[in-house]
Amino acid sequence: MYINIAIDGPAGAGKSTIAKQLAKTLGYIYVDTGAMYRTLAVYFIRNKVGEKDSARMSALVDNADVKIRYENGEQQLYLNGENVTPLLRTEEVGNMASACAVNPDVRRKLTEMQKAMGASCNLVMDGRDIGTTVLPDAAVKIFLTASVEVRAKRRYDELTAKGITPDLAQIRADIADRDYQDSHRKHSPLKQAADAVLVDTSFMTIEEVLAHILGIVREKVQNA
Ligand code: DC
Repeated sequence: MYINIAIDGPAGAGKSTIAKQLAKTLGYIYVDTGAMYRTLAVYFIRNKVGEKDSARMSALVDNADVKIRYENGEQQLYLNGENVTPLLRTEEVGNMASACAVNPDVRRKLTEMQKAMGASCNLVMDGRDIGTTVLPDAAVKIFLTASVEVRAKRRYDELTAKGITPDLAQIRADIADRDYQDSHRKHSPLKQAADAVLVDTSFMTIEEVLAHILGIVREKVQNA
């Protein structure tokens, strides 16, 4: 039996930063499941599938071979043999990822892969439905959140640091829309698992969140 740690929550709560550091500290593999949805999104965009064209997504999804490899400790996503990792972080891909995450065939394909990973190694996996659907028996489940206001400001600061001049009100509206879409879809909506520990990061630094979660892990998992 391997030790699985599930971290769920809305976009911008700090999931990937925390999950990555937690995995490093524990010596576990880090799996960013959002990147898997983004990889299929690249495939659908390239094949000119509309965001609402669920039937075509279902028809095409099995033509997309998605593989995860770890190179120098970093997760790399391959789509039909091509490393698409550098293409995943755009708004266009994020929007298509959110749209295709509604499709049950897309979810089934990626969920199967994620379950198989959980059965094969110690890992920290982040996403939206990890504690509820993908790894219901995970040893530790964390639901990481922060207010829309705080998440919008974090994204604003991130873009400003890259030399972009973003519109804070627009960012806030996009985050609220994405939250709504992720938590109201029919299949595996974003939802806190009954046995997950809620951590609100609105007024915590990354170091504080990490220390807090490590405390929870050490309480639940012997020898972690
Ligand atoms: O975490 P992210 O922004 O990279 O995720 C992209 C989209 O994929 C997001 O809108 C929700 C979806 N997603 C999902 O439905 N289930 C997951 N386990 C991970 C992501």
